[in-house]
Amino acid sequence: MAEILCSFNKDALTIKPPKKASFVLRLMLSAFAMACGIYICSICLKQMNLQNTNTFLLFEDFERPCYDTVVDRSQIPYLHYPKPKTFNRSECAGNPVRLFAIVSMQRSGSGWFETLLNSHVNVSSNGEIFGPKSRRDNASTIVKTLDKVYNLDWFTSSSKNECSAAIGFKWMLNQGLMQHPKEIIQYFNDRGVNVIFLFRRNMLRRLVSMLANVYDKEAKLLNGVHVSHVHSNEEASLLSKYKPKINVTSLKSDLRGMESTAVKALNYFNSTRHIIIYYEDLIKDPTQKLVEVEDFLKLPQMNLTSQQVKIHKGALSEHIENFDEVNKTLSGTAYEKFLQADY
Ligand SMILES: *[C@@H]1O[C@H](CO)[C@@H](O)[C@H](O)[C@H]1NC(C)=O
Ligand SMILES: *[C@@H]1O[C@H](CO)[C@@H](O)[C@H](O)[C@H]1NC(C)=O
Ligand SMILES: *[C@@H]1O[C@H](CO)[C@@H](O)[C@H](O)[C@H]1NC(C)=O
Ligand SMILES: *[C@@H]1O[C@H](CO)[C@@H](O)[C@H](O)[C@H]1NC(C)=O
Ligand SMILES: *[C@@H]1O[C@H](CO)[C@@H](O)[C@H](O)[C@H]1NC(C)=O
Ligand SMILES: *[C@@H]1O[C@H](CO)[C@@H](O)[C@H](O)[C@H]1NC(C)=O
Ligand SMILES: *[C@@H]1O[C@H](CO)[C@@H](O)[C@H](O)[C@H]1NC(C)=O
Repeated sequence: MAEILCSFNKDALTIKPPKKASFVLRLMLSAFAMACGIYICSICLKQMNLQNTNTFLLFEDFERPCYDTVVDRSQIPYLHYPKPKTFNRSECAGNPVRLFAIVSMQRSGSGWFETLLNSHVNVSSNGEIFGPKSRRDNASTIVKTLDKVYNLDWFTSSSKNECSAAIGFKWMLNQGLMQHPKEIIQYFNDRGVNVIFLFRRNMLRRLVSMLANVYDKEAKLLNGVHVSHVHSNEEASLLSKYKPKINVTSLKSDLRGMESTAVKALNYFNSTRHIIIYYEDLIKDPTQKLVEVEDFLKLPQMNLTSQQVKIHKGALSEHIENFDEVNKTLSGTAYEKFLQADY
């Protein structure tokens, strides 16, 4: 593109006005040609600059070992060769690492999704690292935390470190992500962080799960211990015995609020490399969706497994105390479809 524009520019400058044209006309024409030339050249220069800064950033931040495998050039911004301070990547030092963040909301299946991802031998997903408020006080503490995680220097039970091909964590929208979008988007784009949005379409089921989880914080139904996820059908049915009563006065605006938060996040982070996964699709066909995620992160394909068991199964009418009232409130609205969904 740049070359085409530049050669066009040369032609523009050599156009000779007919001899009979007046001096003024000639002057105007050459001024016009010059203006065009300057404009086009500035575009060419800008493009060259952009390319330069890109490669510059890349090589400054991440020295690449020379025994790299051949890769698709378009993937280069997404490949990293971290040099952790705390250990050596030993035989895997030459394997590229991709950075990712699972962006989600509470009670949307992200716990389950993350255990599935972590069952991959080359994935380290470090949980909700921005849970503690001190790590998200301001944009600079966020960046410091991100740097540590992405340099493989963050240790959790899920860290695989030496042979990780993808490193990431789970980030809830209410954990500083929406307070500092500008800095975070810039970081994601500069470092080539891959964003996996995990959202739930049925916000009513999400609300039921939230209310039940809040209740369990007090009631501690499982042997006096509060849990957010369970590993057996017995535990699931015990937890789902509690039926929350939903405030129908605020229901519609609550659902609207949840949806608009998700839409806002999608808009903010639209410029990042991303994939959108819906919990409902993941439930319906986990294998298919997980292959999509593995492809997105360019991971070798593996069968992924999780020990987690879904808590609220079957019709919603079984899980809401005042279901008739909820039904009446949502009938005839855009949220009516949430009532019927059964999974
Ligand atoms: C990593 O390996 C290098 C050389 O192979 C060695 O000098 C260094 O001490 C090692 N670092 C750690 C943390 O083991
Ligand atoms: C960010 O927060 C940390 C501690 O939480 C503080 O030390 C630092 O000065 C703050 N930075 C800015 C730019 O406010
Ligand atoms: C995945 O992990 C295995 C076992 O640690 C390692 O041999 C392999 O090189 C890793 N693959 C990638 C793509 O990093
Ligand atoms: C239900 O929501 C309305 C509107 O937000 C609020 O005024 C009311 O106190 C809530 N009722 C209960 C029982 O929480
Ligand atoms: C993101 O950008 C693409 C292309 O510019 C556009 O088609 C899409 O609708 C945008 N999505 C959102 C959620 O804004
Ligand atoms: C995953 O499991 C299925 C059946 O259980 C098997 O056919 C397939 O080969 C496995 N795929 C991988 C990549 O291990
Ligand atoms: C909601 O109420 C309507 C009318 O009473 C009823 O026909 C419908 O089956 C109810 N929906 C569900 C999901 O129970």
